[in-house]
Amino acid sequence: MLKTERQQVGELCSGMDLKAEIRKMCKEKDAIILAHYYTIGDIQDIADFVGDSLALARKAAETDAKMMVMCGVHFMAETCKLLSPDKIVLCPDLNAGCSLADSCKAEDLKKFKDEHPGYQVISYVNTTAAVKALTDVVVTSGNAKKVVDQLPKDAKLIFGPDYNLGNYINEVTGRNMLLWNGGCHVHERFSVSKILELKEEYPDAVVMAHLECKAPVLAIADVKGSTATMLSYAQQSDKRQFIVATEAGILHEMQRTCPDRLFIPVPPEISESGLECSCNECQYMKMNTLEKVYACLKNESPQIKIDPKIAKKAVKPIERMLELS
Ligand code: 13P
Ligand code: SF4
Repeated sequence: MLKTERQQVGELCSGMDLKAEIRKMCKEKDAIILAHYYTIGDIQDIADFVGDSLALARKAAETDAKMMVMCGVHFMAETCKLLSPDKIVLCPDLNAGCSLADSCKAEDLKKFKDEHPGYQVISYVNTTAAVKALTDVVVTSGNAKKVVDQLPKDAKLIFGPDYNLGNYINEVTGRNMLLWNGGCHVHERFSVSKILELKEEYPDAVVMAHLECKAPVLAIADVKGSTATMLSYAQQSDKRQFIVATEAGILHEMQRTCPDRLFIPVPPEISESGLECSCNECQYMKMNTLEKVYACLKNESPQIKIDPKIAKKAVKPIERMLELS
């Protein structure tokens, strides 16, 4: 009987001190591990660099290492490859997608662009390389306002795919960008009522929310921004308690760097099945495991490959973002 991929990886790693073996292999192969804040704590602990999507892109562009393992989701690994095309970019699980990236297909964006001549396209970094190839400038939640503020005031703009982020940026910049109707299944599940319930229990807590949350959630948040914005606010604040409306993986770094503070994750209102649940995790981010990191380093596979014609176009709006932010 054929073994599943999971069984094969399990056998490969059985009885090993995986963290030590991974670090050893990184040294031997001149590889670095990049991890997003939403990955499991064990991966964040062995990573060379942990960050938000903007910081990870910057790191990928500047590293001297021969190889990098991007522990995050597929579009993040693609961004690394676009910025470092000569390097080997490994992705522990190619199935680690993103509901937000899935909400904007390149062919649909192409059609929308054709229907709106004269418009520039601003794409959130949570998009495929094919979508980036149709884009004028990429943004992350950490730099979207700064980038949009630098575009000509009379520019006609399309923003996608995250509706909530685009709506917020319209509000804070006074723009009237046309918004794509996409969203993240994790962030759209946070509700005002759950946050207010927590606020009753912890009246002194600061409410922090990621910009992918819906407008009513952002309206009651004291701090709104990217994962890195929330983290650095907590690190610099005098406050002791924080209610956190984003993927719960970030609590690992918050608690590690601020051990004397209390971080309270917001449970979502409803699950995908329609039932109330306590799951505020991105299942794609959680596909990264120590076993898969070990296996991909050992096998130097799976690697990210991008059609060179798409890559040539897709890297330009990312480079433009890095220049403007
Ligand atoms: P950040 O850019 O804040 O890291 O967010 C990435 C992301 O996927 C949020 O869901
Ligand atoms: Fe994509 Fe949402 Fe997961 Fe972020 S949390 S990677 S936007 S699915």
